[in-house]
Amino acid sequence: MTNKQSKRRTLVLDLIQRPRRLRRTPAMRALVRETHLLPQHLIYPLFVCAGTAIRREIPSMPGVFQLSVDEVVREAEMARNDGLGGVLLFGLPEEKDERGSAADDPEAPVQTAVRAIKETVTDLVVMTDVCLCEYTSHGHCGVVVDEEVINDITVARLVDVALSHAEAGVDVVAPSDMMDGRVGAIRGALDEAGHQRVAIMSYAAKYCSAYYGPFREAVDSAPAFGDRRTHQMDPANTDEALREVGLDLEEGADIVMVKPALPYLDIIRAVKQEFCCPTAAYQVSGEYAMVKAAVANGWLDEPRVVMEALTSIRRAGADIIITYFARYAASLLK
Ligand code: PBG
Ligand code: ZN
Repeated sequence: MTNKQSKRRTLVLDLIQRPRRLRRTPAMRALVRETHLLPQHLIYPLFVCAGTAIRREIPSMPGVFQLSVDEVVREAEMARNDGLGGVLLFGLPEEKDERGSAADDPEAPVQTAVRAIKETVTDLVVMTDVCLCEYTSHGHCGVVVDEEVINDITVARLVDVALSHAEAGVDVVAPSDMMDGRVGAIRGALDEAGHQRVAIMSYAAKYCSAYYGPFREAVDSAPAFGDRRTHQMDPANTDEALREVGLDLEEGADIVMVKPALPYLDIIRAVKQEFCCPTAAYQVSGEYAMVKAAVANGWLDEPRVVMEALTSIRRAGADIIITYFARYAASLLK
């Protein structure tokens, strides 16, 4: 050994603070961990279609399926057994038309699934997405006149949709349309119909995002013309997100959501800090697809990247995370 090497080995820095002391062992790291992720924080989205014994995989979302009602009930049961926070239902109607008639049909897949889950699965929070884009022939979130989504006519339709979900027994309705005034209108109509107990989780800060692509394949809702920029938010804006959340809370929202999640962690943080209310974040289809594609190529390690993303969303301030990884994450947490 040369002189130089032995000198380096015996060098002791005069450090008072050594942050590595608290990272030495798993037990030490657990002791000082600041953010926790539990199955109860996670909401599992499910796509409900007509028929029985149907499990149709969505090509751009490997591991996610269009499910008939019987299959949805089984998934809901497993979600409950995994200790998940709840399920969020989306519907695939048998037929689509201009005004999205199937959206408030009491016999449509979502309403049928809510009744079936409530009959067989106890102790599971059941949520439904309230929008028209899965039901309209043109794929827009509302009623369209001259290629424009008309706000107030759409709100009237959304109220009917929310009421039909409440009649079926849902716990939480989640309007995802971004029309002005829909939370207040839905709250008023629910109360008038005796559904004071049904909560509202509003997609409050929902951005006009390219990350919804795979979802639109899942429910065949890509707009036939135009886009959603006249109602969904500009990704460049923060103040506007806070105004939107403030309005939805004033109108009676119980839970507010930021969507997508990972590219909008700053918005999640700002909303949680400003309003101190139950805050949800939606890790959307494109966020899921990116991870799945990289994992399929052997480029990312799935369990680690999923837990890191979900933990980061919690760290930013989300109480609740809506994620297609919900059951997978619960299995990792066991
Ligand atoms: C319907 C709705 C969308 C999503 C949730 N509800 C799509 C959209 O607004 O185009 C996106 C969910 C996802 O991408 O996983 N309004
Ligand atoms: Zn929509």
